[in-house]
Amino acid sequence: MSGEPLRIGLAGLGTVGAGVVRLLADNAELVAQRAGRPIRVVAASARDRTRDRGVDLSGIDWEDDATALAARDDVDVVVELVGGSDGPALTLARATLAAGKPLVTANKAMMAHHGLELARAAEARGTPLMFEAAVAGGVPVIKGLREGAAANRLHHLFGILNGTCNFILSRMEADGRDFADVLAEAQALGYAEADPGFDIDGVDAGHKLALLASLAFGTRPAFGQVEATGIRHVIAADIAEAAALGYRVRLLGVAESGAQGLFQRVHPHLVPVGHPLAHVTGSTNAVAVDGDFVGRLLFQGAGAGAGPTASAVVADLIDVARGRTGPAFALPADALAAAEAADGGERRGRAYVRLIVQDRVGVLAEIAAAMRDAGVSIETLVQRGVAADGGVLVAIVTHEGPERCVAAALERLHGSQSLVATPMWMPILA
Ligand code: NDP
Ligand code: HSE
Repeated sequence: MSGEPLRIGLAGLGTVGAGVVRLLADNAELVAQRAGRPIRVVAASARDRTRDRGVDLSGIDWEDDATALAARDDVDVVVELVGGSDGPALTLARATLAAGKPLVTANKAMMAHHGLELARAAEARGTPLMFEAAVAGGVPVIKGLREGAAANRLHHLFGILNGTCNFILSRMEADGRDFADVLAEAQALGYAEADPGFDIDGVDAGHKLALLASLAFGTRPAFGQVEATGIRHVIAADIAEAAALGYRVRLLGVAESGAQGLFQRVHPHLVPVGHPLAHVTGSTNAVAVDGDFVGRLLFQGAGAGAGPTASAVVADLIDVARGRTGPAFALPADALAAAEAADGGERRGRAYVRLIVQDRVGVLAEIAAAMRDAGVSIETLVQRGVAADGGVLVAIVTHEGPERCVAAALERLHGSQSLVATPMWMPILA
């Protein structure tokens, strides 16, 4: 393919950065055809120049300071694959856009915290800001919302947004394996963030949810309003109880926009085994969104790892090469609405509550009284004669009701001598 190459300055040569170098080498001809010109990495930066990254870096200049990539005359586009909401990634992003150059990034933390500022900077210089790889790895969900569903009013989206957590939950489910053991495997496969706490505490899914909500609802990214609870407190017994009741445990992000404001929550849920999300396993992600004309769309595919994420990064580069770009969040930054956070306690639904209690007279009566006094109606109550943490497991499924009542029941039980461990609850996906 002839034509002037699109020249890339690549910051970060880790899981995703090395994946991009490999993809651009392996699929060079195909990518050039699709882009209308070759795409070539001319300069790169990482921390350790000497590290073998398993890819051919010959012919690529090295910059010790990633910010220098933005200033190079021979760089047309900067690709930021360093990570972190602030620090070198943000410095590079600001420098790139200030120089009027397109920025492609996979950095959901930076986009969730600073996306509005960066979108404004990009618009001020008339240059693209692209972040397809930041949400759901290789799944083109940003393009799907920004372009495919552009003609619809969207009020509701939900899905599996973290590959590491889904990998852990589905491995625990399939093999009864231990949490820490499976997390180590997810890290070795390149799925986890530099700080895996971001994955297992729901922060990474929260970053992605804030970006999707902005794209879907025309609101400013509002990561600060996301209620995030991860999977740290999900135990093997929860997964077994869920299975016995006809559910699987999945970490879901849920966002809704309505008269009550913007609701954004990441929380482990019980998903009925008949629901498509119950069958999403491993590092796969899936996002469901309801449009007023199109109905339900389901975007699904590999949510993490070198190949899928590189695929999304290079898709953005092909769009930049073709000039197929628009506002980062689908609307001009100044047209994005500032949404109030909705009160999650007003939501209604069924819930799973798990308690680990002492095996003695009166404990079930105490639990039932707390539920009654808080206005929670019990649909199912199971007590296993299996000791867990020195106690007995009680699993409850509630009838539909306000979530604030479940919170109130747990508050009533707080500090009770009957409890052996902190209770946990999960919403049940309808
Ligand atoms: P890695 O930790 O594997 O790679 C980070 C890279 O950044 C490394 O090459 C590191 O250098 C380099 N780096 C760190 N600090 C600097 C600096 N100051 N200047 C220049 N380079 C620096 O991360 P990933 O590749 O996994 O992730 C990169 C980004 O992509 C993150 O924003 C992440 O959230 C996002 N992402 C990751 C996915 C995944 O599946 N891994 C999926 C989707 C998005 P060195 O190698 O020398 O240490
Ligand atoms: N750590 C992230 C995950 C990478 O596990 O989903 C993909 O964004």
